[in-house]
Amino acid sequence: MCGIVGYVGKRRATDICVAGLRRLEYRGYDSAGVAVIGPDGQLKLTRVVGKLDNLDKELSANPLEGGLGIGHTRWATHGKPSVQNSHPHLSCDGRIAVVHNGIIENYQELRAELEAEGHVFRSQTDTEVMSHLVEKYYQQSEGKAADLRAAVVEAVHRLRGAFAFGIIAADSPGQLVAVRRRSPLVVGIGEGENYIASDMPAIRSETDRVYVIDDDEVALITEDSIELTDLNLQPITKDVYVIPWPADAAGKGEHKHFMHKEIHEQPDAIYACLAGRLTSPDEPVKLEGLNLTEDEIKRIRKVVFTACGTAYHSGVVGRFVMEKLAKIPSEADLAPELRSRSPIVLEDTLVIAVTQSGETMDTLLALRDMREKGAKVISVVNVVDSTIARESDGVVYIQAGPEIGVASTKAYTLQILTIELIALYFAEVRGAAPAEELRAMKEALLACPQHAEELLKREDSIIAIARKYYDLRRDQWAKHGVVIDNGDQRAAEKGWWSTTFRRDAMRPNSLYLARGVNLASAMEGALKLKEISYIHAEGYSAGEMKHGPIALVEPSLFTVAIAVDGEVKDQMVANIMEIKARSGPVIAVATDGDTQIESTGVDPNASPEDVASQPNDMIWIPRCPELVSPILVAIPLQLLAYHMADLRGEHIDQPRNLAKTVTVE
Ligand code: M6R
Repeated sequence: MCGIVGYVGKRRATDICVAGLRRLEYRGYDSAGVAVIGPDGQLKLTRVVGKLDNLDKELSANPLEGGLGIGHTRWATHGKPSVQNSHPHLSCDGRIAVVHNGIIENYQELRAELEAEGHVFRSQTDTEVMSHLVEKYYQQSEGKAADLRAAVVEAVHRLRGAFAFGIIAADSPGQLVAVRRRSPLVVGIGEGENYIASDMPAIRSETDRVYVIDDDEVALITEDSIELTDLNLQPITKDVYVIPWPADAAGKGEHKHFMHKEIHEQPDAIYACLAGRLTSPDEPVKLEGLNLTEDEIKRIRKVVFTACGTAYHSGVVGRFVMEKLAKIPSEADLAPELRSRSPIVLEDTLVIAVTQSGETMDTLLALRDMREKGAKVISVVNVVDSTIARESDGVVYIQAGPEIGVASTKAYTLQILTIELIALYFAEVRGAAPAEELRAMKEALLACPQHAEELLKREDSIIAIARKYYDLRRDQWAKHGVVIDNGDQRAAEKGWWSTTFRRDAMRPNSLYLARGVNLASAMEGALKLKEISYIHAEGYSAGEMKHGPIALVEPSLFTVAIAVDGEVKDQMVANIMEIKARSGPVIAVATDGDTQIESTGVDPNASPEDVASQPNDMIWIPRCPELVSPILVAIPLQLLAYHMADLRGEHIDQPRNLAKTVTVE
């Protein structure tokens, strides 16, 4: 959500801060700002509502000179997006500036206390208490200059909640102080200059060497030094972390959007995730980081997957695979629901938290609750050293590299792959499945990179389907002579529809149906479509169709029916027939070589305009065991969502109202 970048050195700090914040744009934000200590020793501030382009314009018109600065992109939580509420926030005298990610839980009581002491607040944010608290403790004593780091530490002792702060003061020239608790923060190491950032991609083009700051650690940073201490100001030492991915990993390359690039990275990413873990169908799976002994694995009585959004869908695959292969009773719970339910935790319960960012607050809080109740928690994570990775008993990294598009794509397929490897490993340790079955699974997983490559080669066929459906309702009206688009002057003149309303009202609707292990594929396919194209999409169990959703079926609602080879295919065929009988258009996902599905439910006696008379649109996937199919099914459904959104001209990498990392409950 929010992003922080800070710089101290000889270059213009705003250039580094804004460039870094741009690399965090994907996380979602609604306002932005920078503060700089100028050569004249004065603290200067520029803040804007909206995108970084607005900040750039302001800074081009009125540049802020100075080599010490902090910048921030804000996603509103306390108080609406406005200049007053955007960061940095200043002390009363305007000589201290603070940027903050996270939430200060006790800000109301602190604000009341500070106001009673005469501090004047200018925003509705929780963050502003920090600038006033630091001001309160930033006092000269016994002829000594005020100590910014000491003041920050004193202020931090008063806070409850989650935070990463970057703080500068006009009276402490050349010093940048940073501190964190439950919100990510790194210090970048340069030559004659140093940086802070909430996320490594923000500063990767400047350096590949960082200190990953832990909870309640403080960094005092100048252009030539980085001092790390705890909250008692006792020095600490830590290893330099070398960022393993190249500087251009965070670029779009030849792709129009990050999402498209990330979809296309999947063959290589799947290969990299398998490397060293599964090398041959005849070798056992090797997993580092699980931190479970064979005895512990044999004793597991229940597995609970917990996560949010797309990561939850990989948990839904996980519960299925874990039961089928490792024969361990399993469930998948949405993280906020798991907390609300406060479940009874049996002895030898293993919780598997799944998360791309490793910072999703609901998942983190569920993890903590379950650990408190005695469960062992391992996590399946992308971002190395993230909070969830560090708070788990064991962690298996999916190794996807940076995922920038808000819509999760490669992280999803790699989460499923990693979970399948864990299930296979457990099955081997527990002797839970016949060797032949495990061998076939391994063979299929090893074939995934090549199958993913093949699926991407079929992108044109997906584009053709996207073209047919992205504006289905408008096209249907057009057949009756009613043109409903931006060129419909008649409607506009009569004031029937505003442009926005016209577009929204004319979006088609969709249903994604599946059964068994691919129920997750239906839920994920629908989530992808709705989040980036704003086309309403429901992911549903096909077994539930007759209990409600079938009422929606009509020509302007298209159904994506996942009917790949496997135990539930015949039932899916029956569902497709029911939809066609009600003139609902069907996009079927089926296995290469299936000769039945394309004509399933087609009524040769229906009139040529009736959808029922037309063959189903087909998305083909390579033959594979049903348990592996969710990895392959995901790829064309990601492409379908992507191309529908692109045809509709939406902001694919930063969809409205969404943030990449949801660090609030
Ligand atoms: O970082 P996480 O995997 O924990 O994020 C969980 C969800 O917020 C995330 O998957 C979200 O649903 C994406 N927008 C889906 O594309």
